[in-house]
Amino acid sequence: MTGDLSNLGSLLVALADGEFHSGEVLGTLLGVSRAAVWKQLQKLEAFGLAVESVKGRGYRLATPLDLLAEPAIRAAMSEAARKQVTLDLALQIDSTNAYAMRAAAQGQVHGLAVLVEQQSAGRGRRGRQWVSPFGANIYLSLVWRFAGGAASLSGLSLAVGVACARALTALGLPGVGLKWPNDLLVNGHKLGGILLEMTGDPAGECQVVIGIGINVGMGRQQAAGIDQPWTSVQAQGVQVPRSRLAAELLSQLVQVLAEFSIKGFAGLRAEWAALDVYKDAPVTLLSVSQSVAGVARGVDDGGALLLETEGGIQAFHGGEVSVRARK
Ligand code: BTN
Repeated sequence: MTGDLSNLGSLLVALADGEFHSGEVLGTLLGVSRAAVWKQLQKLEAFGLAVESVKGRGYRLATPLDLLAEPAIRAAMSEAARKQVTLDLALQIDSTNAYAMRAAAQGQVHGLAVLVEQQSAGRGRRGRQWVSPFGANIYLSLVWRFAGGAASLSGLSLAVGVACARALTALGLPGVGLKWPNDLLVNGHKLGGILLEMTGDPAGECQVVIGIGINVGMGRQQAAGIDQPWTSVQAQGVQVPRSRLAAELLSQLVQVLAEFSIKGFAGLRAEWAALDVYKDAPVTLLSVSQSVAGVARGVDDGGALLLETEGGIQAFHGGEVSVRARK
């Protein structure tokens, strides 16, 4: 997938430490002239990276980078994940979900994990844009095949939330919670989101693209386009290399998907309930067609939200629905 970005990749690896590197050394490393190095450095600006140049010292990145590294991810993955997952890393694409959907549409794909440093058109739920600055966060999509059609998938996005919470907790992040249907929160601030997309036969063999975005080290300026309270792994005081986090996410995902294939969401419901940040809270459920006020009473075995209204407890399924705390 990296294509003609491979030279840029080598340049980034060299500059990631934030130290000065001379044009001559960089040229030797890439096997190109100093003028060609300069051209490549210009391209880094298109990623939103600031390069400083000082006469006699060379070039450096204004801020050091923690780049994803395939060997480090593989080494830190569980054995089960290593067996079942194929990694596909790139510097920049439109959206890991869009890329994974294109791959899935071309044939049977299972276990393909797409990870990138930057998305130019990251997709959020409800058609929103997902802010995806270079090298700052996790942008991951995993393609998984399901034989039982759409009916076997109910609660899958909630199950993925459980996997993410397990991964973050295992890496020492306290207080991770889930907001129905699938926001990752810490202290009411959004840490990450999950976007599932499906291709194939809704009544039979289908492939699901499990998209996960987690804020890791995004700065305030980079997040200027986000219109809700947000946080990041680093803002919560946890320093973890993104490759390590990616490996933990994939390991927990493979584990949770195995549990899901045996018992469905029912087997993960109690764990989800323990992470539910809106349990017993007064909420308003918004969908395209309606707005329903009630008290959140957890979820059922299919992952539907249980809302206690004047008419009793009603189950609400996914789709274009969101929950807001009532004022
Ligand atoms: C949300 O709106 O809460 C869901 C956000 C999901 C973002 C992730 S980032 C990796 C994957 N690729 C995308 O384009 N979107 C998902």
